[in-house]
Amino acid sequence: MIDLAAFPPDFAWGTATSAYQIEGAVAEDGRAPSIWDTFSHSPGRIDNGDHGDVACDHYHRWPEDIALMKRLGTDAYRLSVAWPRVVPGGDGPVNGAGLDFYDRLVDGLLDAGITPSVTLYHWDLPQALQDRGGWAERETAEHLARYASVVAERLGDRVTQWATLNEPLCSAWIGHLEGRMAPGLTDLTTAVRASYHLLLGHGLAAQAVRAAASGAARTGLVTNHSTVAAASTRPEDVAAAARMDGHINRWWLDPVYGRGFPADMRELYGVELPERAGDMATIAAPLDWHGLNYYFPATVVDDPGGPVPYAREVRLPDVPRTGMDWQIDADGLEALLLRLTDDYGAHRLYVTENGSAFADAVGPDGAVHDPERARYLEQHLAACARAVRKGVPLAGYYAWSLLDNFEWAYGYDKRFGLVHVDYATQVRTVKTSGLRYAEIIRAHRRGAATD
Ligand code: IFM
Repeated sequence: MIDLAAFPPDFAWGTATSAYQIEGAVAEDGRAPSIWDTFSHSPGRIDNGDHGDVACDHYHRWPEDIALMKRLGTDAYRLSVAWPRVVPGGDGPVNGAGLDFYDRLVDGLLDAGITPSVTLYHWDLPQALQDRGGWAERETAEHLARYASVVAERLGDRVTQWATLNEPLCSAWIGHLEGRMAPGLTDLTTAVRASYHLLLGHGLAAQAVRAAASGAARTGLVTNHSTVAAASTRPEDVAAAARMDGHINRWWLDPVYGRGFPADMRELYGVELPERAGDMATIAAPLDWHGLNYYFPATVVDDPGGPVPYAREVRLPDVPRTGMDWQIDADGLEALLLRLTDDYGAHRLYVTENGSAFADAVGPDGAVHDPERARYLEQHLAACARAVRKGVPLAGYYAWSLLDNFEWAYGYDKRFGLVHVDYATQVRTVKTSGLRYAEIIRAHRRGAATD
């Protein structure tokens, strides 16, 4: 049961996507390659050799996709702008045609009564900047800020909700340490430098948006987290859990909330941070809002011979899982919302992503029946409501994702959408989970206490 009365009347009901995962049109209107174009066209990197060249063809089909949002009854939409469309070289000339696309999209959303929430960087770094060292170099953070001001100058009269980065953890750790995402590197020093410059880029881009957009602009950061538990009470496992918590939670939150980078993790990484005077204040400038992306919890054991942070996730038996093999645990969402509020002092929160992949197919009746996703959605919304009752200032929820889309290294096999996409025909079919989301939104709007 979802305690709908817990949510404020102006709670934002949204869906989320990102540019490279849905747009396609990678060579149109002046867009240049990003690190994801390069990575996805490198043999062996992506399941089935998939790539984002066409994806959901949202670049051409966006009016239809806005109509789908209307059908779901959502009033908010989280999208990302592709840096390589707007400033194809990363720095240098601005591509007006790229900006025009987002201009049309924003107007289309506003005409439909849907509030856009714009993320500036969802992993698609212009390849030209990667060729100069990418996030390992300070100049990339500075170029992000300049790109942010270009976008905010163009859209900032209509867009009020801005995020600088999506999930810098994935960019730094998965992209530069584990090598499973673009740019596919496996080097600790590079990864730590990238993490630093991503957070610096966040701070600089936030300043740029605040300077360029209207006074109504509210600028935040989107980070992804998991609750971390030790697999046993052995002191080694308990210490491993603290390290994993440092790696995926504290490293990203402490500096943003003014605590600096955690000393235990600095020592563990043993990499000198490329710090300059004033940087920490830039990184820690107060957020107007914080976006939490939540998918699964982590249970870990000590792993002294393994990679940093010497803690290994274990697969618990007999727990519910999604098609990603991710454990389903809605309590983890509640716990993280409470931690951000009570421990870090977040004063305005959104769940900016939450969702599940399952192997959906269009049935003989033409419908896509996905009761597991509907259940996942209900459980996590119920967790949000519990958190609100405990004092969490939660202002909205964005389901990941509006559409099935390019799920990075997993290609198109993993479907997270509330709307099914047939990639051969680009036909969209609202799944039963999407219909369920619409029903929940309607119930909240008409003031129902529960659903
Ligand atoms: O698809 C991704 C998204 O790009 C970032 N957050 C997690 C989602 C599911 O893996």
